[in-house]
Amino acid sequence: MTGETDSSHRLRGNYDGMRPDYTVDQDLSAYTAAEHDRWRRLYLRQSALLPRYALPLVAEMTQRLHYEIGIPSFTEVNQRLKPATRWQIVAVPGLLPDEVFFTHLANRRFPVTVWLRREDEFDYIVEPDIFHDFFGHVPLLFDPVFADYLQKFGQGALKAKSLHGLEYLARLYWYTVEFGLIQTAAGLRTYGAGILSSAGELPYSIENPEPYRVHLDILRCMQTRYKIDSFQETYFVIDSFQELFEKTDPDFAPYYAALRDRPHLSADCRLPGERSYGHQAG
Ligand code: PHE
Ligand code: CO
Repeated sequence: MTGETDSSHRLRGNYDGMRPDYTVDQDLSAYTAAEHDRWRRLYLRQSALLPRYALPLVAEMTQRLHYEIGIPSFTEVNQRLKPATRWQIVAVPGLLPDEVFFTHLANRRFPVTVWLRREDEFDYIVEPDIFHDFFGHVPLLFDPVFADYLQKFGQGALKAKSLHGLEYLARLYWYTVEFGLIQTAAGLRTYGAGILSSAGELPYSIENPEPYRVHLDILRCMQTRYKIDSFQETYFVIDSFQELFEKTDPDFAPYYAALRDRPHLSADCRLPGERSYGHQAG
């Protein structure tokens, strides 16, 4: 997906020779020893943070997947993923046009970028690379309920396109699938892939007093712009995935119509009457 504040952006990655659906073959032999080693260091650093900051389900699944040894073979991952939830991951050169991306989701295919960040991007990268796409997104694809939710999201996005709602739905994707927080018995945790793959934002999103943490309201979320090149200024919190599914179950067509009469809100907007969650880790 492309970021809304990112109009001057040029795509990174090699788009030559891809198929019409933007997929390519993952060439495992093309990764260098240095890249496998970088992957291992990224993976170990992030997994060590999960027990404290991630939804327990994510921490457990990541541990069970056990992919810290080196960049994984997508074929091997799919041999485990397909029987679990009928999802598969597909290799892509990098960012995709929204319609291509959501068509994959609607068909239970999660696009994973093939290239790994450079060493000087170890701590922070704006564009999704294989580490973000894999470490951040794949564990939840093994959860049957979340897996169904993502497919519904893809279908909803294709429908949103004809209703001029895609800009709004992209914000919901950003603030849930990428940067969502969830209240658990152990305290505030994250299930969002953009946070899970970031060493800085994992503690920041949970513990830092600066950002605003407001309970998820679908229309409020869809009104809110987002930053693609800094930590988020607002996080939307849910109590359970069940809540997410119930709130996204209604037909969104009237929502998109209502949003046309509502203003866009800045990423740091605080509305009267809203309450920010206290910052505490479990
Ligand atoms: N219910 C939404 C619609 O009718 C589709 C959707 C489902 C969107 C799940 C996001 C998540 O458009
Ligand atoms: Co992502």
